[in-house]
Order: sequence, then C-alpha cells, then structure tokens
Amino acid sequence: MTVAVVIGAGGGLGRALAAALEAAGSYGSILRLGRGSTPPLDLLSEPSVAAAAAWAAAQGEIRFVLDATGFLHDARFRPERGWRDLDPAHMAHAFAVNAIGPALLMKHFCPRFPRESRAMFATLSARVGSIGDNRLGGWHSYRASKAALNQLVRTAAVELRRHNPAGVCVALHPGTVDTALSAPFAKTGLDVRPPDVAAGELLAMLGEMGAEHSGGFYDQRGEAIPW
Ligand SMILES: NC(=O)c1ccc[n+]([C@@H]2O[C@H](COP(=O)([O-])OP(=O)(O)OC[C@H]3O[C@@H](n4cnc5c(N)ncnc54)[C@H](OP(=O)(O)O)[C@@H]3O)[C@@H](O)[C@H]2O)c1
Repeated sequence: MTVAVVIGAGGGLGRALAAALEAAGSYGSILRLGRGSTPPLDLLSEPSVAAAAAWAAAQGEIRFVLDATGFLHDARFRPERGWRDLDPAHMAHAFAVNAIGPALLMKHFCPRFPRESRAMFATLSARVGSIGDNRLGGWHSYRASKAALNQLVRTAAVELRRHNPAGVCVALHPGTVDTALSAPFAKTGLDVRPPDVAAGELLAMLGEMGAEHSGGFYDQRGEAIPW
C-alpha cells in the first residue's frame, strides 16, 4: 500500500492538506502525525521522530511526506521588530522547530523512500526566509530559521537524488493563509486565503513537479523564489 504522511496535521494548513489528500484518493493511506497523534511526533524530540517514521513505514510504502509544521509566535515569543528584541531563547526555539525539526524529518523519513518510483518530501517554508527578497527587516528568528530550512532542503535534495533519481525534495511558500500562525499579522489588503484553497493549490502544484524541481524553493504558483 502507498502511504502519504502529513506532519503537523493538527495545524491550519496541515489539516487542510491532509483532507485534500484524502479527497484526492491518490494514496492508499494518509497518515496524520503531530504532537497530538498516536504515535506522537514532536520535532523537539528526535526519538519521537524516529519512532513515528518507523511506524509510518510499517503502514506501507512511504511515497510522500508533507511537513506542515512551523513556529512564528506563541505565548512567550513574538516576532522581533528590531535588534533590541533579539532573545537567544526565542532564536533557539525558532531554529529548533523551523530548521532542526524538519532536518530530523528528512533524516528519518527520506531513507525510507523507495529507490525507484516517485517519492517526494515537501516542507512549508516562507517567502520571508528569502535572503534576496528581504527588504523590510524584522522577524529575525523566523526569517533566519526558514533560510536555514531552505539550505537544509537543498542539501537533502542532493542526497535524495543519489538514493532515488526520481525523488523530489522542495521548500514551499504557501502564500498568506488564514491560520493561527498568520492571524495576528494578516493585515487587510493582503491576499489572505482559506486553508482549503491554499492546500488545493499547493497539491496541484506539487503534482506537476518532477526531479528537475528538486532542491528548489517555490511559491504557491510554482514560481521559484530567490534564495
Ligand atoms: N499561514 C501562513 O500565512 C503561512 C505563510 C507562510 C508560511 N507558512 C508556513 O506554513 C506552515 C504551517 O503553518 P500554519 O499557518 O498552518 O500554522 P499553524 O496552524 O500554527 O500550524 C503549525 C503546526 O506546527 C506544529 N508544530 C509546532 N511546533 C511543533 C513541534 N515541536 N513538533 C511538532 N509539530 C509542531 C503545530 O502542531 P500542534 O498542532 O501540535 O500545535 C501545528 O500543527 C509553517 O511552516 C509556516 O511557517 C504559513
């Protein structure tokens, strides 16, 4: 049986992506993982990532891993406006969730991909992680951790190509989507889309992607974003 795994399936985009994958019916089973799933997957606990990957592989052949986890703000930390707001604990948490966590997903899930048939790892990054596109400043931890994520995706894509020449490993910007993550910052005037619309667009775009796209950073229309 073929399996697609959605990680962060309890989040705004993750829930919509899992539902859209289920509706499309292209995989035998859609596995929803996150801190509240059974087994639980917490990006801050490598043993939980390893155990969840082993459990997923026991359900069938993992063909698609979609990482919809991410951190921008919580009760403790708000995105920085400037230098004075920099806090090592905030920065460490952003890197742990947005960069190191997805790297652990690649470590434990990608080696389980088949060696020949189509296999894909896609992670939700953010346009503000683009260094070339940074004209406004601020949001230091989120920007820098997503830039690190993009580099990790590029690096993993090189390794995935050796494992499976048809493999695809990409970072995506989903656009501005109406979720808990964006809610405090989604100003009027921005094109804020419902999660189900964004999920449909992302999956349609991923469906068109092949090995030639691997290692890239794309927006919701499939256009490459500058690093
Ligand atoms: N919404 C937007 O406008 C927008 C724009 C650009 C990029 N993005 C990116 O899209 C992704 C999804 O964001 P969203 O808008 O759907 O946000 P969300 O609703 O806040 O969902 C975030 C998800 O990350 C999970 N998560 C956080 N820390 C975790 C940890 N330690 N271990 C495992 N899972 C953890 C959460 O799990 P719990 O359910 O357990 O809390 C939740 O499922 C993020 O990477 C975000 O940066 C979103």
